[in-house]
Amino acid sequence: MPDSQVIDGKALAETVRNELRAKVETFTAFGRSAPHLAVVLASDDPASAVYVRMKGKAADAVGLRSTQHTLSPDTSPEDLRAVVAALNDDPDVDGILVQLPLPDQHDEEAIIGMIDPSKDVDGLTPINAGRLARGDESGLMPCTPLGCIRLIEASGTEIRGARATVIGRSRLVGRPVADLLLNRHATVTTCHSRTRDLAAVCREADILVAAVGRAKFVQGDWVKPGATVIDVGINRNAEGKLEGDVDFDAARVRAGAITPVPKGVGPMTIAYLLSNTVTAAQRRRAQ
Ligand code: GUN
Repeated sequence: MPDSQVIDGKALAETVRNELRAKVETFTAFGRSAPHLAVVLASDDPASAVYVRMKGKAADAVGLRSTQHTLSPDTSPEDLRAVVAALNDDPDVDGILVQLPLPDQHDEEAIIGMIDPSKDVDGLTPINAGRLARGDESGLMPCTPLGCIRLIEASGTEIRGARATVIGRSRLVGRPVADLLLNRHATVTTCHSRTRDLAAVCREADILVAAVGRAKFVQGDWVKPGATVIDVGINRNAEGKLEGDVDFDAARVRAGAITPVPKGVGPMTIAYLLSNTVTAAQRRRAQ
């Protein structure tokens, strides 16, 4: 069997960013200030610091404004709530992202829940997540799932009528990507750590989305021949190299199309964060 199509997330993210640059130019051409993304970093997790820096740089590169609000890791829950409340109230801020995970003293759900849904560029508030779960895509939606759908579409895979298996049920990826697939008329199975005979469920999938957080968890022979495989995992191995949730070399010879790690889903997540920021600005300022 010939090797599968490797879906180039880096190139597709560049396409999304170019679309955005044009939108931002239209925005500012009318004398309005560029959309403004505010990122809150309240932990001393080095990976979070790297992600937050990448998000800020990516925003600047498409002409958005970005500000980073860095708090001490021992900031009190009251002080973090005050920062989010101030960003909610600031008419100059279009998008708010509170980088997760938060240190233990914070109630993550409570913090997410207080973000103004019109500025919720992560699509994580109960209002936006609830809209999506009910098939209403008019709210802001999570970035990684939006990136996954764009990658599937770019591969030429038809979602309507396909059997889709999602491994993982997180609020950030598993649940919303299942919602988006269902809204596009796939027949969706969501799997998790208690799923019986996971391999057999995966082998039924025309579209397989892996969001487990364990390196090379999905074996090559779990992939239905010709399937489209989307690997959301970003795991660092003992040598410091990034590995996905899928055993890429083994899966590639069976899949019809597959995303690599790195340069697959990762760049798309950031591109859709920027896209959500532009969408939030357009909607808020049209009001
Ligand atoms: N931590 C890891 N990924 C994400 C993300 O997409 N959004 C937020 N807010 N935190 C994260």
